[in-house]
Amino acid sequence: MAKKFKIVFEIEGGEDVTIFAVGGENVLELAQTANIPIDAPCSGNGTCGKCLVDILENDTKTRCLACQTEICGDAVITVPDAAADYIGNITFEIFETKDSSETGDGSLSHPAYGIAIDIGTTTVSAILVNQQNGEIRAKATTGNAQIRYGADVINRIINQQKPDGIKKLQEAIIRDTILPLLDKLCLATEVEHDRITRLTVAANTTMNHLFLGIDANSIRIEPYEPAFLEFKPYDPASIGINLSADAKMILAPNIGSYVGGDITAGVLAAETPSGKKIYSRPEMSLLIDLGTNGEIVFGNEEFLMACACSAGPAFEGGDISCGMRATNGAIQACVIEKDTLEPTFSIINDFEPVGLCGSGLIDVVAELFRAGAINGKGKFNDKNSPRIRRDEHGSGSYILVFASDSATGKDIIITETDIDNFIRAKGAIFSGIMSLLAPLGFTPADIDDVMIAGGIGGGINIKNAISIGMLPDLPEEKYSYIGNSSLNGAYEMLISTEAEEKVKEIAANMTYIDLSTEQGYMDEFIAACFIPHTNERLFPS
Ligand code: FES
Repeated sequence: MAKKFKIVFEIEGGEDVTIFAVGGENVLELAQTANIPIDAPCSGNGTCGKCLVDILENDTKTRCLACQTEICGDAVITVPDAAADYIGNITFEIFETKDSSETGDGSLSHPAYGIAIDIGTTTVSAILVNQQNGEIRAKATTGNAQIRYGADVINRIINQQKPDGIKKLQEAIIRDTILPLLDKLCLATEVEHDRITRLTVAANTTMNHLFLGIDANSIRIEPYEPAFLEFKPYDPASIGINLSADAKMILAPNIGSYVGGDITAGVLAAETPSGKKIYSRPEMSLLIDLGTNGEIVFGNEEFLMACACSAGPAFEGGDISCGMRATNGAIQACVIEKDTLEPTFSIINDFEPVGLCGSGLIDVVAELFRAGAINGKGKFNDKNSPRIRRDEHGSGSYILVFASDSATGKDIIITETDIDNFIRAKGAIFSGIMSLLAPLGFTPADIDDVMIAGGIGGGINIKNAISIGMLPDLPEEKYSYIGNSSLNGAYEMLISTEAEEKVKEIAANMTYIDLSTEQGYMDEFIAACFIPHTNERLFPS
């Protein structure tokens, strides 16, 4: 029998985990098997550099990428707390109840509750709602624990193909993500789990499959069709979510492989600043959901078209060296002084700076471009500043926060690789918009309202997003930031059976455009991978 080595995972901020492994086993795979949260956005391809661990073997400590390292003896492996940006770190809000029945008597003293959940690829949010009056009692948000199986849906699907993969991915989302959120919501509001009678879920197509434990592989192979679009309401206990014995779970329907229930629920909820729904008025609306996938919907009361563009996880902090979710310590807005390149920024909840979330990233790139620090390709110009550094290959980076001022004790930087990833993400969004408009002969000038959704920070600076060519050059008053429209849609489905029906109608009337097969999309994308765009006439202002 092969000799087994003793491996102790020391998790910063957590308890040690001891397991036994044979020589040659991959450290990342071993950690995944033991449910140890190592951040692995590239799913073990060795390209993201985020799975760093310290390995102590024979009195020698080495820092290495977990995914590129094999076990060759007894070892103590220190796992940094980096994954906590994404995993197990629950942010929580409790709202004052106006419900007098809480302290009254009779049946109303124990109202039924409901839970609405938005399962994002990176972030999961849930709210606990009093079903009798629709009041939101508490909200909790955390990282999707599936992040250890890759940052995007493709890597998650690749991982679910491995032995026991579907079970592991389902456990990561239910046992390691959703159940802790529900426990937190119930504990803080003193609501017992068995008082929850309704659960609504808004999730992208892949997340819907992995949540239900259904093979998602058909999503990534031709003809790219999901195993299901709509799922009949059923008992949440059958997937390990124990609520009231008669609790019903409802999923917002998918419309295609890459446009799912998060978007159908998002359309249900999205409103213009004057309170008008996209699907019930003649004016043309554009809804852009900036998540790990960028999804776009265009239309009005007569038609709705939707597409997904592979924006990647940049807007949620993935693929960016100092990227993070929009949570405490994230730089969410930034201005850079043109001559000195000195930044001033706003940080979520005024914490010490930890990293950069999506809205901050848009600002930093726009400000560096405006200050002449980077060119249209995102490369650093020759500018003398202590904030610009070059590595031995000449590749530049900008230091937003020096190590002495950051919460992590390390510089918070943005590198040329980060900017390159960001340019591809913003190029994907803009080319997605153009590809949705063009087939029916529309142009950006035909858009009456643009609603931006997604949890990327405290709203985005529209002027900056236009100046870098991410959004069409339209008057700012046409834009509004509507927050987490998926969660809002799940909330509407929770408190109204009419909304539950409406979301099905929306899904049935929405046309899914698959950009990968759309003629001309690739040309649009390449043209948009420049700041602001290779066709400057599209950005006159
Ligand atoms: S480099 Fe190891 S997971 Fe990305």
